[in-house]
Amino acid sequence: MAVYVNQIQQLFTLETKNSTYQMGVHPTGVLLHYYYGRKTGRESLDYLYECYDVGFSGNPDEAGTDRTFSLDTAPQEYSGSCVGDYRLNSIGVRNADGTGAVDLRFISYEQSKGKYGRKGMPAVYGSEKDADSLVLHLKDKATCLAVDLWYSVWEDYDLITRAVTVRNETGRTLHLTKAASMLLDILYGDWEILHFHGRHCMERQPERVVLPHGRMAFESNRGTSSHQHNPFVVLCDRRTQEDFGECIGVGLLYSGNFSIQTEKDQLNRIRLVAGIQEKDFDFVLEPGEEFETPEAVMVYSGDGFTPMSQKLHRLVREHICRGKYKLARRPVLINNWEATYFDFNEEKILDIAKGAAELGVEMLVLDDGWFGKRDADNSGLGDWIVNTGKLKGGLKPLAEKINALGLKFGLWFEPEMVSEDSDLYRAHPDWAVQIPGRKPCRGRFQLVLDMTRKDVRDYLFDMMCAVLDEANIEYVKWDMNRSVCDAYSALLPPERQGEFYHRYVLGVYELYERLIARYPDILWEGCSGGGGRFDLGQLYYTPQIWCSDDTDAIERLKIQYGTSFAYPISTVGSHVSASPNHQTGRSTPFETRGIVAMAGTFGYELDLNLLSDEEKGRVTGQIERFKKYYDVIHFGDYYRLTDPFENELFTAWEYVSRDKGEALVHIVSTHVLANTPQFGLRFKGLQEEAQYEVQVWTDGKIVKNQKAKVLSGAVLMHAGIVVPAVWGDYKCSEIYLKRRDCACEPEK
Ligand code: DGJ
Repeated sequence: MAVYVNQIQQLFTLETKNSTYQMGVHPTGVLLHYYYGRKTGRESLDYLYECYDVGFSGNPDEAGTDRTFSLDTAPQEYSGSCVGDYRLNSIGVRNADGTGAVDLRFISYEQSKGKYGRKGMPAVYGSEKDADSLVLHLKDKATCLAVDLWYSVWEDYDLITRAVTVRNETGRTLHLTKAASMLLDILYGDWEILHFHGRHCMERQPERVVLPHGRMAFESNRGTSSHQHNPFVVLCDRRTQEDFGECIGVGLLYSGNFSIQTEKDQLNRIRLVAGIQEKDFDFVLEPGEEFETPEAVMVYSGDGFTPMSQKLHRLVREHICRGKYKLARRPVLINNWEATYFDFNEEKILDIAKGAAELGVEMLVLDDGWFGKRDADNSGLGDWIVNTGKLKGGLKPLAEKINALGLKFGLWFEPEMVSEDSDLYRAHPDWAVQIPGRKPCRGRFQLVLDMTRKDVRDYLFDMMCAVLDEANIEYVKWDMNRSVCDAYSALLPPERQGEFYHRYVLGVYELYERLIARYPDILWEGCSGGGGRFDLGQLYYTPQIWCSDDTDAIERLKIQYGTSFAYPISTVGSHVSASPNHQTGRSTPFETRGIVAMAGTFGYELDLNLLSDEEKGRVTGQIERFKKYYDVIHFGDYYRLTDPFENELFTAWEYVSRDKGEALVHIVSTHVLANTPQFGLRFKGLQEEAQYEVQVWTDGKIVKNQKAKVLSGAVLMHAGIVVPAVWGDYKCSEIYLKRRDCACEPEK
C-alpha cells in the first residue's frame, strides 16, 4: 500500500520508501498541496500552509469574509485560470462564452492497484505489485469542466507518476489552450534548478541556477523534445550534491513540444508546471470529449543526485523500455555512416562487414543512402525502395551475405521526412507540412511529412513493412533530421490547426506502435540528428537512442555526463569513431574512444579495415571486455565520480553490480600536467567490509607492478586510490574490482 486516504480529514498521502507526498481538500473544495519530501508518516501536514491576508491577493467567494484564503497564495495541486491565482496556470481554456476561466474544486476520488494507462501515448507500465494508483476528480462548478488528476506511486523507486485527463462536460464546444501534466508547489526552501540545454552535436549540457523571483521556462516548440532543452529537470536544494541533499527529478514521457516552467512568487514559494508547450497548442473538445495529457514522472532523493539518477535508471530499464531487448544484451554493431557517408556500394559495405566480423563485431547497420535517389542529403527521402544502383541485387542478398559472415543486419530509416526531389513528393506534395500560400522552410533540404494524417502513416507503414519483410533486418535506426515548423495539416479544419503539433507526436507514436507490434524481435534505435529526441517517451518505443552526432570521445564525456542524470547507460547510443574525429578534428587514443563508447550501447562507426594491426587487436579486446562487463555496465548502478565541467584534468565514472560483487571505474585524462601532483579518487557503492581484488589498467594494459592488490570496500570508498598518472593526450585508465567471494573472473 502506498496510497493512504484519510476520509475524515480529506487527506491523501502518497508514500514511497523514502518520501511522502501529501495533499488535502480545503473547506472551499480547492485541492491543496502540503508537502513533498523526505518520509514523514501520514499525519496531516496542513499546518505548513499558513493562511494570512496578503494585499492584492483576492479571495474566492466561498471564503466569505475571510480574507486570508487566496488562490494566489494557496499551494495547489492543479491551478486554474483567470480566477485569482496570478501565478502559473496548469490549465487554459477558451470557454464557449469566450472567457478563459477555470476554477477547480475537489469532487471525489478512486483508488486502485496497479498503474493507470494513457491512450496512444507512452506511459510507465507495471503490474499490481509495482504500483498503487489514485485518481482525484475535480470540477469547475460553473462550467462543469471535469479534470482528473492521476497518480501512481512506485514505492520501491521513490517515484510518483502523474497525468491529467480533461473532460468537456460543459455541453458546449471548448478550446483547451493549456493542459499541464503536473504542477508542484513548494512552500519554502532554497531551491535551485538543474536543467539540460544544448544544441545539435552538444546535447544535454547541465546548467544549475538559483530560481529567481519570476518565471523561467525550459521548453521546445520544434516539434520534437529537441537538442536545445530536455524534458527533464531537477529541483534541488542549494546544498545538494551527488551524495547529499534533497532533489526532485521531473521528467515528461513526451517527445514533442513541451514546457517545464518555474515561478518563484511574491512569498518566495516555488511552483513548477510541466506538460505540453502551450505555444501553438489549441485543442478543440466537443461536448463529451476528453483530452489526455502526457505522463510526468517525479523522483525524490533526500541523499543527492546519485540515488535520484539510479532510481530513474531502474525505472526506465524495467518499466519504460519494452521488447525483446529491454533486458537482453544488444549486439555490438558497426555503422557505416562515418565510414562512407553516402558514398558506398555493396562491395564496400561487405568489405566493412567482413573486416568487422573478423574482429568480433556482431551486427552491421547500413545507415542513410541505401534507398531512392540518395547520393546526398538533398534528395530521395520518402522513397523507401532500395537503390539498386548502389546495392545491385537489393537488400535481401546483401543481408544474406552479411548474415553469412556471422553478423546481424540493421537498417536506417527517416520515416517522417520527404525530399522535394523524390517520387513521393512529386506524387503527394500535399503530404508535406506547409502553410497554404507560403513556401515552407527547409531543414537539411528536407520537408516534414504530415504525421497527423493516417494516409501518410499507412503509406510509411506499408513501405517500411515491404523493406522489413524483404530481408532479414534485425535492427532499425529511426532518424529525424530537422525541427518542425509551418505547422498546418490539410486535413484539419481551421479551428483545429492548433492541434497539429500534438497530433504529429501521436502520429509518430502510432506508427511506432504498429511497427513494434508487427516486428517484436527488431531492435529499434531512436535518433534525431543524434540526441534531438532523447526523452522518456521515446524510450517506450526504442530502448536506445543515438546520443549525439558528436562522436568525439572527449566531447562525449560532457554529453554523456549530462545525459546520465535521467537516462541509463543502456539507452545511450555510443560508438567508437575515427581519429582525428570528424566533428572536431581532435585525436584521441583508441582505448579512450572504447571506454567512452562502452558507457552506452557500444559499437563502431568507422572502417575497421583501415586500422593498424595493433588497433585491430584493441577492437577485439574491447569487444571481449564489453561483453564481459555488460551486466555491470548496463544493469549495475552508475556513479558520476567527477563533474567534467568542474574538473578539467580528468573525468571518472563507476559502475557497480547490484549485488556489489563487481565494480568498474573508467578514468579519462582531459588535461595532462607536467610534474603532476597526485590526485585521489574515492569509489562509491561498495560493501565496506568486503575485500575486493583490484586490477588497474592504463591504456588497455594491466599495470603489473601495482601496489595494492586487495583492498576493503571501506578503504576504497574512504581512502580511495591514486589516479594512475598518464603520459600524452586523453589517455585513460580502468580499474576493475571483484569482491573476493564473487564468482566473476577478472582478466588475466
Ligand atoms: C543523423 C544521424 O544522427 C547520423 O547518425 C546519421 O544517421 C545521419 N543522420 C544520416 O543522415
